[in-house]
Amino acid sequence: MQAAVEMNETLENMVRKLKAIPAYAERFKQVFGGKDPVTPENTAKAMAAFERTLITTNSPFDRFLMGDEGAISADAKKGWELFRNKGCTACHNGPNFTNGGFFRIQVPGSTDLGRFEVTGNEDDKYKFRVQTLRNVALTYPYFNNGSVASLSDAVKIMSREMLGVQATDKEAALITEFLKTLTGEMPRVDVPVLP
Ligand code: HEC
Repeated sequence: MQAAVEMNETLENMVRKLKAIPAYAERFKQVFGGKDPVTPENTAKAMAAFERTLITTNSPFDRFLMGDEGAISADAKKGWELFRNKGCTACHNGPNFTNGGFFRIQVPGSTDLGRFEVTGNEDDKYKFRVQTLRNVALTYPYFNNGSVASLSDAVKIMSREMLGVQATDKEAALITEFLKTLTGEMPRVDVPVLP
């Protein structure tokens, strides 16, 4: 919420605005209880709970892994092979295609100090958490500062920055075909009319 490229809002203002809307005040009370439930921490918890519902399964790739050979295209299969052979799976592995670790990366235009901002450890400068790749075709723009709009460009940057090799256009296109198969079933979200 505070990030300039996101909502560019102070936590103080955010709390003030939420409290001023009776329906939100009421819902925070129902969910979190206590005297003063509209806090930055509870707001973060609520947002995180919502965001977790956006990491969804039953994608074509899940069906492929379960044995449905026809669930993804021949190109996507080649992309999956490249994704493994090139070493993307060193970090993007497991059920959500992330090992949960933090790695040093400076994406184009970013001056963000990353995990260092939280821990103050010199060693954490410019480290960011490995992102899930589920639904990645839908979650542009990419990287911590949203600086990259196209998925194939993001693939090329990753290859160069994290693996030290330049991916060809063809390779990036195939890996992108694979990544598109990670789009799962979306939950139905009824956008509420703001109270
Ligand atoms: C050494 C660990 C590591 C390796 C290897 C790696 N990645 Fe990443 N990946 C990361 C981290 C860390 C981020 C988050 C960067 C950020 O937020 O700025 C990321 C982010 C991404 C994103 C952007 C996700 C988003 O929603 O913004 C894509 C796409 C991606 N990686 C694809 C790949 C591909 C394809 C490969 C192989 C060519 C690869 N990665 C190899 C660590 C890795």
